[in-house]
Amino acid sequence: MEKIKSGSFIPLPIVPIVIVGAKVNEKPSYLAVGCIGAVNLKPPIIMISLNKTHYTTKGINENETFSINIPSTEQVIETDYCGLKSGETTDKSKIFTTFYGDLNTAPMIKECPIACECKLIDTKLFLQCITYYGEVHQVFFSENAINGKDFNFENANLFFLSGLENLYRDISESKSLGHAYDIGWKYEKGKNTQKPQKAVNEPKIVQKDKFQILGVEDISKMEERDPVAVWARFQQLGSHIPYGDTSHALGIYITTEELLKESKNRYLVGVEVSKVDDDDVPEGLITETIPSQKYALFTHIGPLSTIENTYQYINEQWFPNNLDYERVRFGVEFEWYDSRFRFDSEHSEIDLYIPIQEK
Ligand SMILES: Cc1cc2nc3c(=O)[nH]c(=O)nc-3n(C[C@H](O)[C@H](O)[C@H](O)COP(=O)(O)O)c2cc1C
Repeated sequence: MEKIKSGSFIPLPIVPIVIVGAKVNEKPSYLAVGCIGAVNLKPPIIMISLNKTHYTTKGINENETFSINIPSTEQVIETDYCGLKSGETTDKSKIFTTFYGDLNTAPMIKECPIACECKLIDTKLFLQCITYYGEVHQVFFSENAINGKDFNFENANLFFLSGLENLYRDISESKSLGHAYDIGWKYEKGKNTQKPQKAVNEPKIVQKDKFQILGVEDISKMEERDPVAVWARFQQLGSHIPYGDTSHALGIYITTEELLKESKNRYLVGVEVSKVDDDDVPEGLITETIPSQKYALFTHIGPLSTIENTYQYINEQWFPNNLDYERVRFGVEFEWYDSRFRFDSEHSEIDLYIPIQEK
């Protein structure tokens, strides 16, 4: 039979999907994992492979324990949700009912028919992933998933990922349960949040030279900030800006380790200036030099009120799936507003400059 060359990828048609749990900052955190395998039977050792930037990996590194939870078809939406959202931005500790075993720091999921706690015994770093080897300390079955001592396969209602179709399918009849990296959005349906729109264009990777801005500044917690008031202050004072490039204005976010401890950041609204002497800085304005940096340049298309969707796409889909670049932790990021911007229009465009570095 003719064979068809199809490129280089992992060609596994049946992938078990588990939810890995770890305790991060005193709370359970869960993520969906397909890279899992048994490596030794006695003692029982399981391997999982996780992207080193994931939030949950912090808990495994810290406590040297983790859990593996095998979900049933009843938890397919929640499982996918744990694979869509990062604990960095979303509290996933209350999606399931958590319980702990002897190891105390490996949160397990009551709703899953099978759960086990593991003690970390080894790790190995690959390009963007760390493989964690865990010795299984204790396995827990839900009562209805066993008959006496035997595992009751039919009652457990398990599912798998059909890897070459990216579909979840139930094990008994192979019926489709929905697409991976998609069906999880249903979990948020009742909460009035929207599936993030894919940025219309994949980002351009750009290098921007050092530049200076003149504008106003606000240092506060993001949730307490009134950005409209900051822009209004800038508009009031901005007419006095010397040497300003008024073709565009920038909304700049600067976070430092110290500010992060207080959950604050600096928000600067200003314009690029070619030259500013200290004597020329009008009262109420500040100047800041932004260093030369490589950025992923995304364009948000649509009203300003939906910009969070584009950020969500960047943080939760683009970065986790990007093999080449990661975000610069305390880099300066900014929004670029020019004549394409219309506050409330479907056709409005804002460029988002996200600082990146090679992995
Ligand atoms: C079906 C599916 C399988 C996944 N498999 C893995 C995996 O094997 N390893 C991994 O690092 N991430 C995997 N992910 C992605 C993570 O679950 C996802 O990035 C998650 O949001 C990370 O959460 P955290 O940052 O809170 O730890 C998978 C996601 C899905 C939907």
